[in-house]
Amino acid sequence: MSYLVDEYGYYGNFGGAYIPEILHRCVHELQETYLDMLTSASFQREYEQLLRDYVGRPSPLYLAQRLSAVHGCRIYLKREDLNHTGAHKINNTIGQILLAKRMGKQRIIAETGAGQHGVATATVCALMNMQCVVYMGQTDVARQRINVEKMRMLGAQVVPVTSGNGTLKDATNEAIRDWCCHPRDTHYIIGSTVGPHPYPDLVARLQSVISREIRQQLLKQEGRETPDYLVACIGGGSNAAGTIYHYVDDLRVRIVLAEAGGKGVETGQTAATIALGRMGIIHGAKTYVIQNEDGQIEEPYSISAGLDYPGIGPMHANLAQSRRAVVLAVNDDEAIRAAFELTRLEGIIPALESAHALGALHKLKFHPEDIVVLTVSGRGDKDIETYLKYQPKEDNV
Ligand SMILES: Cc1ncc(COP(=O)(O)O)c(C=O)c1O
Repeated sequence: MSYLVDEYGYYGNFGGAYIPEILHRCVHELQETYLDMLTSASFQREYEQLLRDYVGRPSPLYLAQRLSAVHGCRIYLKREDLNHTGAHKINNTIGQILLAKRMGKQRIIAETGAGQHGVATATVCALMNMQCVVYMGQTDVARQRINVEKMRMLGAQVVPVTSGNGTLKDATNEAIRDWCCHPRDTHYIIGSTVGPHPYPDLVARLQSVISREIRQQLLKQEGRETPDYLVACIGGGSNAAGTIYHYVDDLRVRIVLAEAGGKGVETGQTAATIALGRMGIIHGAKTYVIQNEDGQIEEPYSISAGLDYPGIGPMHANLAQSRRAVVLAVNDDEAIRAAFELTRLEGIIPALESAHALGALHKLKFHPEDIVVLTVSGRGDKDIETYLKYQPKEDNV
């Protein structure tokens, strides 16, 4: 039994491709070709070279000594924040733009929440001279302003989306609408392990460079390939999928995922899909969805734009249902505290999304000999305005 995708595009009961008729042809084309393309020697050569020379991989695996002392174990940080464009998202966009070129597409569309996937998509479109349109909810345009300016500077058209509460769900709806209108010439670079099959598997494979490197780096630094714990945050699930990919079927490794509790799972102002979601369909996949009794999707809330999503990738829904992973809801205030803690202990300002993974550490009990690998999925530059509002009081004297 494996926790990776099966030949029909499912993870246990979750996944599949629930799409409108108009998209059948291009989704089917992707299903038929993605594995051959990904494993071809020419793709591998170009992808590996760009990851090394353009993205700056391998990203360091850093033993955070002062953070380790606080939690009483050995904590390694996988530094995806040090990638070009500041997050893990570029691992996926580099791979998908190479696929799009091979499929003869001329136009790229993407959705974005925190703006990191939008920036990573605009970046590879500049690199490959492709037209780029990014859909972004109006709320996120306001709270991630710097990333909007970066996308525009890179030559992308950023389309603010005003439906719903103007966050990631609404941006994704709009991107899918665009794709339905341009199925032939356009490739949709989905930014997470969500969407119809094969996207969750495609994105997980492209992000799996993270766990491949962790294995090699741990072997060199600790003399063993397997950690005791892997910890990552989950919006749609791509940095988590990349972190666990090569370990997911190895039951010695405990997997801890942090979802956004928002103001608290009981307040209704939350994006904690595993805590509150029920089976449904969202953006082409069968998975847990936060919905009301009539099956209408509820508006999610999180301080972190990248985690503010009422669904979750089908891979992670299955990991949660089968209890392969422990999923913890980390609230806004807990994430903020953890971000300041890391900043003051290690001199690393994490993205608000990654701060949720750090917040989860406080909910776990470790032994001194435990090796914990936590993925810092992005850097906090985009979140400075939010952090400034929460600066500890003693600093203002
Ligand atoms: C830095 C960062 N981390 C995590 C996420 C959440 O996405 P995912 O769950 O796909 O890793 C985002 C999304 O925008 C992000 O920008």
